[in-house]
Amino acid sequence: MNYIFATRPGQQIIQGELVEVNFNEKNKTNPEKFLARVTNITHQNFVIDEMGSVQLSSLFERKPDLTLDELNLGGSIQDYTIGEIEIIGRRERNAFVRPNKLLKIGTKIRKASKTFLEQQLKSDTESLTIGAFRFNKEIPIDFDINKLITLHFCILAMTGGGKSWTLSVIVEEIALNFELPIIIFDPHGEYSSLLIENEKLAQEQTDKASKIIKKIKIYTAGDPAIIHRRDQIFEEKYKKKRISKRVLLDMLDLTTDQLVFIVDNLYNLSEAQSRILLETWTDIREKRRSLNDETDFEEICSTIFKDYMVGGRRLGQRTQDILKTKLKLFYRDSKFIRQSLRDEKITFKNIIKKNQVSVIDISALDQIHQQILVGTICNQILYSRIQNSSPPCLILLEEAHRFIPGRNERSSSKAIIRRIAQEGRKFMTGLGIVSQRPSRLDPDVLSQCNTQIIMRLTNPADQSYVRQISEYVTDSDLEVIRSLSPGEGIAFGSSVLFSLPIKITSSRYTEHGGAIPSITEALRKWKPG
Ligand SMILES: Nc1ncnc2c1ncn2[C@@H]1O[C@H](COP(=O)(O)OP(=O)(O)OP(=O)(O)O)[C@@H](O)[C@H]1O
Ligand SMILES: [Mg+2]
Repeated sequence: MNYIFATRPGQQIIQGELVEVNFNEKNKTNPEKFLARVTNITHQNFVIDEMGSVQLSSLFERKPDLTLDELNLGGSIQDYTIGEIEIIGRRERNAFVRPNKLLKIGTKIRKASKTFLEQQLKSDTESLTIGAFRFNKEIPIDFDINKLITLHFCILAMTGGGKSWTLSVIVEEIALNFELPIIIFDPHGEYSSLLIENEKLAQEQTDKASKIIKKIKIYTAGDPAIIHRRDQIFEEKYKKKRISKRVLLDMLDLTTDQLVFIVDNLYNLSEAQSRILLETWTDIREKRRSLNDETDFEEICSTIFKDYMVGGRRLGQRTQDILKTKLKLFYRDSKFIRQSLRDEKITFKNIIKKNQVSVIDISALDQIHQQILVGTICNQILYSRIQNSSPPCLILLEEAHRFIPGRNERSSSKAIIRRIAQEGRKFMTGLGIVSQRPSRLDPDVLSQCNTQIIMRLTNPADQSYVRQISEYVTDSDLEVIRSLSPGEGIAFGSSVLFSLPIKITSSRYTEHGGAIPSITEALRKWKPG
C-alpha cells in the first residue's frame, strides 16, 4: 500500500530515504511506528508552474541579472515536494510485519530517527558490516553472513561504480572476523594489493591490517616472463616484493568437456576429432594420474588413437597425426599446464585452507585460458567439497561475464560455475560474482545470487535485465540506481532485512589495487621494460 505525502515548504527529501510513520498518532502512550520508504518524488512551486517557468526563462533571456525577489517571487513562496511512501513494516524478531490498518489522512511522517533505525535494522544473527545506511553514516548495515555466503551474492555496477572496492571490503571483514577460506579469481591482477597495508591507517588499526595481510596468499598463472614483469611493477609501486606461487595443473586435471572445448576453440576440432576425444579422454584420466613429460604425452596420444575404431575401422594415420598435433600444441602452449614432473603441481589443499585468502592472479593469461583455469579450479573445489576433503569456502569471481556469459555464448567455465550456483549451498561452497555488464551474464547464475548489491548502473539494457532477474528491484529503485555515486548502492535480498540504500565504507585496511590510473601520470613514469 502506497501513500502520498507533501513536505513542509522548503524541506527536501530524497528518493529511497527511510521515514517513520505512526499509525496510532492519537494515543501518545502507545505509538505504532512503522518504517516506510520514499518511492517517488516531484518538486513543485505553487506560483511557477510549467508555463510560468517558460515565461520566466524568456524574461531571464532578456534580462540575465533579474532576480526572483525583483519579480516578487522569492521570500515565502517556496518549492515543495510531493512524494509517495511505501510501508516496509515493523520489526518483530527477525521479520517485518505490516500494519493491519490504513493510515489516517493527515498523519505526519518524519525522516526515520537514528534510534528508530538502529532498533529496526539491528542484526541478531552472525553478521558482516561493510557499510552504513546511505542517508545516515552512523547506522551500520549488517548482512547475515551465512545467507550472504551460502546463498551466493553478486555486486553489479558500471565501471568505476565501486565493485572491486566493495568486494575487497567484504574480503577484509571476513578475514578479520571469520576463518572462512576465500579464493579470489583476479583477471586484472588488482587484488595482490591486499598484501599492502593502507598508508592512511590510524595507529590502532594497524594490528587489524596485519591480521588480514597474514592471511593473503598470492598465486599466479601464465607466462613466467609476464608474471615477472607484474612482480616488478608491484615492487615499484608498493616498495615490497610480491611473494607468489605459480599455479600449474597436470593436463590430466582437465575434464573431458573442458579439454574438448578448449582444443576446439584454439585449433578447431572436426566433429570426428571431438568425438574421439570425448570417448577416450575420461578413460585415460581414470587410468593415469599424471603426465611425466612430452614423451609421456606422445605415448598417451598414441594409446588413445591406436585402438580407436570408427565404423569398424581403425583411425587413419592422417587423422591421428592431426589430432595429436592439436593436443600437443595445447600441451606446450598452455602456460598453466606443467611440462614435466619436476614442475610442482598445485595442490588444492594448499589453496583452500582455513584462515587463508588465496588470490589467483590470472592476468597473464588470455581470456580463453583464464576460462579453462577458472573452470578447472572450480571443478576441483566442488569435487573436494563433495568429498568433504576441504573446508567450506567462498569463491569470488571478478569480471564474471567473461566466465559465465549469457545468451548462447560459450565458455568452458560456464557449466561448472552454474553447478556451483545451483548446488553449491548443499556442499557449503559460496559464490560471489562481480560484473559491470549484468545483461551479458548467464541469467541462471545471476538469479541464484540471493543477495544483490547494485551500485551505479546507467546502461538501459543492464538496468532492465537487473529488473527482470531480480524479484526485489522496483522501478523506483532503478531511478535511484542511475544516480548513485561511487561506493553507494542498494542491497537487496536474503541477507538483508529489506532493500537498503547503503554507502560502502570508505576506510580500508589494505591498499586498493583497482584505482583508476591516470594516463598522463603513467606516461610520465613509463620506461622500456
Ligand atoms: N566505498 C568507497 N569509498 C570511497 N571510495 C570509493 C568507494 N568505492 C569506490 N571508491 C572509489 O572509486 C574508485 C573505483 O572503484 P572500484 O575500483 O571499486 O570500481 P569498479 O566498479 O571495480 O570499476 P571497474 O569496473 O573499472 O573495475 C576507487 O578507486 C575509489 O577511489
Ligand atoms: Mg573493478
